[in-house]
Order: sequence, then structure tokens, then C-alpha cells
Amino acid sequence: MKVPFTWKVTGWFMVGWSLEFEVGTTRALHYFGEELVAYRGESGELHVMEAHCKHLGAHLGHGGKVVEERVECPFHGWQWGPDGCNEFIPYQPDRPNKALRLRVYPVLEQHGCVFVWHHPDGREPGWEMPDIFGKFPQFTAGPKDYYRAYPEFSRRLKGEPVHPQIVAENAADSAHFQYVHHATVTPRVLEWQMADREWHFVAGFPDVNSDDPEAMALRFHSHLFGLGGAISIFEGVQQHRLIFACTPVDDGRSDLFYSIWWPRIPGDDSPAPPDDIRERVEKQFLTTVEDDLGIWRHQRYIEHPALAKTDAKPFMTLRKWATQFYDAAPADAAARA
Ligand code: FES
Ligand SMILES: [Fe+2]
Repeated sequence: MKVPFTWKVTGWFMVGWSLEFEVGTTRALHYFGEELVAYRGESGELHVMEAHCKHLGAHLGHGGKVVEERVECPFHGWQWGPDGCNEFIPYQPDRPNKALRLRVYPVLEQHGCVFVWHHPDGREPGWEMPDIFGKFPQFTAGPKDYYRAYPEFSRRLKGEPVHPQIVAENAADSAHFQYVHHATVTPRVLEWQMADREWHFVAGFPDVNSDDPEAMALRFHSHLFGLGGAISIFEGVQQHRLIFACTPVDDGRSDLFYSIWWPRIPGDDSPAPPDDIRERVEKQFLTTVEDDLGIWRHQRYIEHPALAKTDAKPFMTLRKWATQFYDAAPADAAARA
């Protein structure tokens, strides 16, 4: 999709699930148009940095080894520390080249999901990533009250032609549910508000068994954490939580990540959900992203949309709010300059 804004978006972005990154191993990643290496040091801490060794350019994510908290290049054995600095050169052990430094991406692991901070110029995190179990204090169930999200209730879709803003715009678009998600009722955005770097909204699904048009069978509370995605909770018979995240791979493509926390059956203390719940969640919820993708894959970005009266205000406010995450020039503009 061609968009008039950059794909090098500032913020927190999901890059995978914690269990994909084993202690003592390296992995190659590719996001924001950059080659990256992720490695989990022997302390258990996860590090993400630029992938190409500053010596002669080998990729640390392809054959690199973890030595304590450092990553060792597969080409000539130079070692790099968690701050990105060169710490060891095997054939001059007392003289590491301290001036050489790899760019480091701050990492945050939250309930088994891995996020990195991205700023196009490498600036430090500008705000904190909200916690899905720390937000929504009116819902008191904690992580132990849910089945694990990974791997059973997690999905990744790779390289989709979707810009994070397009995903975020869903937050102000309640009308699509009936058409795209085959909802039997049309939800309404009941509340919305800009909260600095976050966008908060509550959507309600009207109760068809009630005469009161204000009665809701289900409410959906959601906080967008910048444009990288949203943490959400459903308020209804079940109170499941979910993170839906969108991370640019390069100009034109993103990976999408979907993780659901489903409430445990009381008394069941196994980490993995039982088969019947798995099937149900898979059918009912994990497929919803495919519905949206059916649209997103072929959508064209309209800069000045003709909006219906109910959509216009939240929609245009959201687009304006989104501009604060574009610290880099759009790819098109850079190409023209
Ligand atoms: S290229 Fe990495 S040590 Fe030589
Ligand atoms: Fe949707």
C-alpha cells in the first residue's frame, strides 16, 4: 500500500514471542528496513542490535554465538556487549576496539511478548510501553488466571502490505464489524480519547435481547500503544485479553502479531488450554485478522476521505494523533528530494 507517511514509525513494536528466543542463542530479525540480531544472554536477558559486525560485516544472527552476555561474530570471533560496544578481539585480547559500536534497540518483554523500541534516528524510548495486565484496573484477573497466549493462542502473519496506521484506524471504525467480521450487531464507539502517546476507546455491542438501546451485551476496551498495536480486553461473559500488533518489516510490508489470553477454567492449572477451548478461540477470534486482511491487502489509502457523520470526528482526530509518530520523512518524499 502506498501511503503519504513514513514506514519508519517511532514507538514500541512487537518482534516475536519470548519462547522463540532461547538462552544462549542468536536469531536474525529484519524490521524497519534493517538487519537485526537478537540474542538471549546467559543471564536470560534478551538483546537486539544491528546485525552486521563492525569488523568486516558478517551477520551476527547467522552463526553468531553467545558468550556470557556477549555475542561473538562467526567470521573472526570479535565479541560485542549488550551496549553494542566491541569488548573482545581474540588475537589482541587486551585491546578491544572500544570506539566500534553497534546500534542497540531497547527490548521489553511483557507476558511472553517481545517488543523493541524504534526511533528512525536511534533515540532513546520516549514513553513506556503499557502493560496489558497493568491497564484496565477494573478487571482484576491477573496473568495466572489465564491460559498462556503462546503458542496456542498466538498467530503471526508475515510481510503483509499493511501500514500500522491502517490497523490503528480500525479503532475509529465501528461500521466495518458488520461487513468485515460478520457481526450480527453493529458495535458503537462509546468513548474515545487521546491520552498522549496512547489512544483509548471503548466499543459496545448492543444487547439484542434488550429494549434499551444503551444496553450492551459486550464491551471492548482498547488502548493503542502508539501505532505499534493495541492492548485490549473484552467485557462480557468471558473477559479475554488480547494484543494485536503491527511491525513494519520495510517500506511497504509489516508483520502482524495476534496474542490472546483466555480465562482459565476454574481449577484447571495446566499452562495450555484444553482442546475444546482451543478450537473455539481459533474459529471465533484468531481468524478475525484474516477478515481485516481481506480488505487491507487490496485497500488504497484515501487521504481526504468522505466520512459519514458518526465516523468523522474520531477518525480525523485519530489520523491527527498518528502524525506524532512520524519522526522520519516519508519514503516518497525522501526519494523526490
Ligand atoms: S566480520 Fe565479525 S569478526 Fe570479522
Ligand atoms: Fe477489524
